[in-house]
Amino acid sequence: MKKNNIILIGFMGVGKGTVARALVKKSNMFAIDTDDLIESMENRRIKKIFEVEGEPYFRNLEKKAALWLEKSVFDTIISTGGGFYKQENINKIGKVVYLKSSFQGILDRINNAPNAENKLKKRPLLQNMEEALKLYNLRAKEYEKVAKIIVDVENKDIKDIVKEIL
Ligand code: S3P
Repeated sequence: MKKNNIILIGFMGVGKGTVARALVKKSNMFAIDTDDLIESMENRRIKKIFEVEGEPYFRNLEKKAALWLEKSVFDTIISTGGGFYKQENINKIGKVVYLKSSFQGILDRINNAPNAENKLKKRPLLQNMEEALKLYNLRAKEYEKVAKIIVDVENKDIKDIVKEIL
């Protein structure tokens, strides 16, 4: 049976959640966010999980979520945490779409949001901008390798992004 899922990957703050919500409005699909899923699995925030248990523990939860998504989820737009693209089975979950933007474009998007401070605070890997840029440079190539479809989202209207993906 065809799974019919779309998986959105990309760097922190690029707008995976926003695009997922807009896609759901224009389709008959459902929506799941892997960070939300993990927070409900654990009944605590990502920030807390990183603080108390450390990153490897969090990555293991992502793996658990990935196995469940592959087995049990259909007709769904899946937005993911910025590191979820590393899951070995990601291409078995659905069609992987990379939302691409420059690092500066992502920072501008975050800084222009009404809740910019919270967007930064809740992301443990976005505390030190030098480190975040290093991570961006490392991952930018990897996202492209994993994705089946690449969508440039920088300075684009959400309506056009949705049209392009659908
Ligand atoms: C992470 C991105 C976060 C979250 C966690 C780790 C990453 O999700 O999964 O803080 O490794 O890039 P967003 O991409 O939604 O910020």
